[in-house]
Amino acid sequence: MTVTVIVGTQWGDEGKGKITDLLARNMDMVVRYQGGNNAGHTVVIGDKTFKLHLIPSGIFYKKVLCVIGNGVVIDPAVLIEEIEMLKKNGHAAENLRISSQAHLIFPYHRDLDAAQEQVHEAGRIGTTNRGIGPCYVDKFNRRGIRVTDFYNERSFREKLEWNLNEKSLILDHMYKRKVAYDLNKIVEDYFGYFKLVRHMIVEEVSTLVNTAIDKKKKILMEGAQGTMLDVDHGTYPYVTSSNPIAGGACIGAGFGPEKVNRVLGVVKAYVTRVGGGPFPTEITGGVGDVLRERGGEYGATTGRPRRCGWFDGVVMRHASKINGLTHLAITKIDVLDSFDEINVCTAYECEGKRIKDFPADLGRLEKCKPVYETIKGWREDLTRITSYKKLPLRAKKYLQKLEEIAGAKMSLVSVGAERGQIIKL
Ligand code: GDP
Ligand code: IMO
Ligand code: MG
Repeated sequence: MTVTVIVGTQWGDEGKGKITDLLARNMDMVVRYQGGNNAGHTVVIGDKTFKLHLIPSGIFYKKVLCVIGNGVVIDPAVLIEEIEMLKKNGHAAENLRISSQAHLIFPYHRDLDAAQEQVHEAGRIGTTNRGIGPCYVDKFNRRGIRVTDFYNERSFREKLEWNLNEKSLILDHMYKRKVAYDLNKIVEDYFGYFKLVRHMIVEEVSTLVNTAIDKKKKILMEGAQGTMLDVDHGTYPYVTSSNPIAGGACIGAGFGPEKVNRVLGVVKAYVTRVGGGPFPTEITGGVGDVLRERGGEYGATTGRPRRCGWFDGVVMRHASKINGLTHLAITKIDVLDSFDEINVCTAYECEGKRIKDFPADLGRLEKCKPVYETIKGWREDLTRITSYKKLPLRAKKYLQKLEEIAGAKMSLVSVGAERGQIIKL
């Protein structure tokens, strides 16, 4: 088993950080392949809670090389802050590597993100306001500035100046926001950051990864966000601006799809979403509030309350198909401990028809109503259970239902936030 891809199967926050940390223990390398500091991956070790935004969740093991891939967009100030936070907690982060091909986030990306959200009142996406979308726009429009540009200060400055002029014009004329960017100050700040991480920069992450694959090293690809936030396969336009799906790993780290041995889908036992956009099994008030409070469902990046709802089998099937899931890690099953009855959405009712495939058209999706199967709750504390055999029968039934819908093998069940609260199958 050399390459494993970890992917979120819903709208993010499924517990990818916890599962990555858990598996990283037996890995040689962990690579983050897309997204930026819109992500918030939580790792709980004993009484310490770490929220990682850019650095791979394998960083707590010194022997594991942790790589920020070419597919990631980096806000260097956030990266430095994160390294400092780790150092303060006794983790030197010397095992961190950064792709020279990753794109950089600048203040104008954040300003554009905020301005667009403010103007597009009706269709507001509810982004994390970290400048992620505008940075990816520049990447695909070939106006981006990459880590490698630090090696030539003159051209860095030229590219930045061009971008500052363009973005000031757009912000001023289009969004009526007067901005006065100081070229020298930004150059100074960014080269200050560069100095601190220069020794971590790798010219070609793809060479690093492929050499490791050839040596049969064990590699984990850590996805951010989730399948339903994928720019191609999610609920567009209410998505993020990258490809969190398993295929995104090949692009964001530079290796061929035939090298992937295992695709592990992280599945929350219910569903949450932060920001705008469709969410068919959402429960507003009542049970939704109970899920939020019991599950601590507040954004790890923005602190926003997450919208909560029942497990959605249609979303699960979609994620299974798009990612080619081979295995599942089901998380937060303990959050359902107190329920008498738990609903599982097995299909949608849409214009008089029962459908099992997630509709690509949002207009059609709006007309869909979830079809639920009700399962009896187990009403027992699962947080101390570490073997599958010891789970109550009703909890097993619930897990088996999710496994059957996904059509992939359940290999991990998480019963609490802490590293050790896990059942391995
Ligand atoms: P990620 O973005 O997919 O890494 O997920 P987040 O870290 O944003 O959100 C998951 C939240 O649930 C974090 O607060 C985790 O500490 C917590 N968590 C993870 N697994 C479990 C679990 O099995 N049970 C409970 N109760 N909390 C969990
Ligand atoms: P992790 O990796 C949950 C959501 C935002 C918004 C949409 C677009 O922790 O699972 P963006 O800032 O990316 O342009 O926002 O995507 N979003 C996430 N939701 N978890 C995340 O990351 C997210 N990253 C972005 O709330 O709806
Ligand atoms: Mg998160």
